[in-house]
Amino acid sequence: MYFKNSVAAIIVIFAIIFGAKTFFSGLIHVGYDDNLTLAERIQPFGQVYLEGDIDVNAIKAPVKTATKARSGEQIYTTTCASCHSVGVLGAPKFGNKADWAPRVKRGIADLVKVAITGTGAMPPRGTCMDCSDDELKAAIDHMTK
Ligand code: HEC
Repeated sequence: MYFKNSVAAIIVIFAIIFGAKTFFSGLIHVGYDDNLTLAERIQPFGQVYLEGDIDVNAIKAPVKTATKARSGEQIYTTTCASCHSVGVLGAPKFGNKADWAPRVKRGIADLVKVAITGTGAMPPRGTCMDCSDDELKAAIDHMTK
């Protein structure tokens, strides 16, 4: 008799627990996102690529947002002037014909090329790393005027 009652009691308790679980899980969503597949839920956190796994060339370099080119004067004032205004370390001075004439003779294309790579105490791109080649050319045009 006693035994029968306890079995009944256990069944009732289970029924209550199960009922409550079903009831509440409908109200509150606990746990994982049902929209993910099992594979997605248990996938590792990061991924390791070994050389050759992916085609590096297929990854496109970030597209440079088309900003409006700055004027030669702007580039000169913000970067080149620190050396080229007074001739720091022998830099050809702004608008100084004697300094620039022999250089201009070599042609603007060559000056741009040297400005990109740098030479002697002249740093690559005159330290203006985000200057486009055209902007460097404009700055040189401005300095050699
Ligand atoms: C840290 C100082 C410094 C800065 C900044 C600098 N220059 Fe120069 N630049 C020099 C020096 C020094 C020379 C002379 C190098 C030589 O003839 O050996 C020079 C030379 C040049 C020449 C002549 C190169 C040649 O072939 O004779 C050009 C062109 C030039 N600079 C462009 C620029 C431009 C454009 C900028 C700014 C974007 C700039 N420089 C910023 C120091 C500087």
